[in-house]
Amino acid sequence: MPPERPNPRWDQSPSSVISECEQTARTSDYEHITTPVLIIGAGAAGVRTAIELAEHGIEPLVIGKRDHGDAHTTWAAGGINAALGSHDPDDDWRIHAADTLQEGHFINDPVAVEVVTEAMPERLRELAEWGMPFDRTNGGRIDQRYFGAQSFRRTAFVGDRTGKALLDTLIERAKSLHIPYRENVLVTELISDGNRVYGAIAIDVETGQFLLFETAHVVLAAGGCSALYGRHSSRDDENTADGPALAYRAGADLLDLEFVQFHPTGMVGDRYGETWDGRLVTEAVRGEGGRLYNSHGERFMKRYSPVQLELDARDVVARAIATEIDEGRGTDNGGVYLDISHQDTAFIRERLPRMFERFQSLGVDISEQPIEVAPTAHYSMGGVDIDWTTGRTAIDGLFAVGETAAGLHGANRLGGNSLAETVVVGQIVGSHIAAHGVGESTMPDGVLADAERTMSALVSFVESDGNVHPSALIADLRRVMDEHAGIFRDERTLQQGLEMVNDIADRTTTLRFTGGLTSEAFELAIDLSYMLTVAEGVLRGALKRKESRGAHFRTDFPETRKVWQKNILSAHANTGSTLWCREPGRPSSAIESAIDEGYELEYHHLE
Ligand code: FUM
Repeated sequence: MPPERPNPRWDQSPSSVISECEQTARTSDYEHITTPVLIIGAGAAGVRTAIELAEHGIEPLVIGKRDHGDAHTTWAAGGINAALGSHDPDDDWRIHAADTLQEGHFINDPVAVEVVTEAMPERLRELAEWGMPFDRTNGGRIDQRYFGAQSFRRTAFVGDRTGKALLDTLIERAKSLHIPYRENVLVTELISDGNRVYGAIAIDVETGQFLLFETAHVVLAAGGCSALYGRHSSRDDENTADGPALAYRAGADLLDLEFVQFHPTGMVGDRYGETWDGRLVTEAVRGEGGRLYNSHGERFMKRYSPVQLELDARDVVARAIATEIDEGRGTDNGGVYLDISHQDTAFIRERLPRMFERFQSLGVDISEQPIEVAPTAHYSMGGVDIDWTTGRTAIDGLFAVGETAAGLHGANRLGGNSLAETVVVGQIVGSHIAAHGVGESTMPDGVLADAERTMSALVSFVESDGNVHPSALIADLRRVMDEHAGIFRDERTLQQGLEMVNDIADRTTTLRFTGGLTSEAFELAIDLSYMLTVAEGVLRGALKRKESRGAHFRTDFPETRKVWQKNILSAHANTGSTLWCREPGRPSSAIESAIDEGYELEYHHLE
């Protein structure tokens, strides 16, 4: 193990930095809320967990930063995987598991893979029963489309608005079960003694009121960290690493942080406007036949992946596009062309309505002309280390679900597996908590006093008199991550990136706030604290992994090395963070047989 560098200041928690401010202000003024289960995050994973609890007679409280129904899930587009075999009757959950492991380059948690793939057909039918309006085949079965690197058509969909349809369905269900939801809540810290979680500290961003949630169970469903990058597919104020950072500071371990998925096809800002830069062009465009061309008119995927072409794994296609652009065969706007104009207009409008309408509003008819795309940070395979049979972390009472959790995807995620993960793990966590009884929350007096001190320190913090707006540091951090932890990495650039992140962390002592706890600056400062914690983990993991595997490509170590068929974990110790390695388990014999069978999609259907 190489010697570890000291943590940046914000690696500890906002309060540990904040506590260095003069603590004159006191706040005994907070709303104290008790609940049997606190669910932080109201996307698909959080809401599915809540539904399971409610169906077992437990009323959780779901909190989110935005209005109910407005979560990152709504941006998921192309579909959700389950081995239903609507078109390809040979498909089976074991083959889904084999594909997931293969594309995860065999460092996935095999338990996670088995649990999710086996449960998915049932979870999908359940969603259909709850009213999710899946597209159907002529025979009335749930339709399934091609998605990259899968052996069969396995991705069920609702046009290209699958995530929105999923969340709408879950929210309707949650409302029918009268599950309470509180919006405008910004969580700043979990309340933990390093062994057990007791709740969370938050701010109502509308009123500036402190909230102290007391509970015996916290479920973190707060998304991933793709917004560490300047070019990313979510909105700027989501996927800012809240979930993993909160868990880490509470004492849980983080896993696989070096694996960040760059989706091959994000919109190109220089062509469509900065507000659209990096936004997702769904893989469904390629799943429905879309082809990639460089500025010489060459269908370049024939060189990189002669059989799977545009539907090879995301890391392969993203690297191919990046290479074309880097070597001067990109468009003047810094992208490549994605063309689906050979398909009928009616077909495109039916299968890809959101894409059709979005580009039409930008003056582009995708049934007539190609669009310009380039890779964009899209998903974090890494996150909180959990036990996949229960969702538990190493901290008693703390659970993680959805993109906040890690283990299912290994080194590279299959498109369509993220929505699948949300509904499976939500159901598992809800039923686990219900089966074990929610018990009474008993926050020790000392822990409560610490929480009150943290709130006081936050008040002092926003009254501090610096001169740097947090948005400037976030912009700097994103630039560093784009340039130093992108698709291609090496020792020198990663090391420089780590030093720059530490430098940004040092500059957090000079932040300026106007408007106090309800200000945008305060919210951004909290986001920044989360982002710094996890950015450091990404860089340190990427430095440590001296090989290339899946989404992590080291130009100085371009080969995949057997010795690195293991996971890197970051543990938060008193003396700072430490990295350690763990061997992934072995898949069951049923899944090993499916791997050996070597199923492959017949891609000629698309040509
Ligand atoms: O391209 C997409 O529609 C994304 C799907 C996913 O990330 O699972």
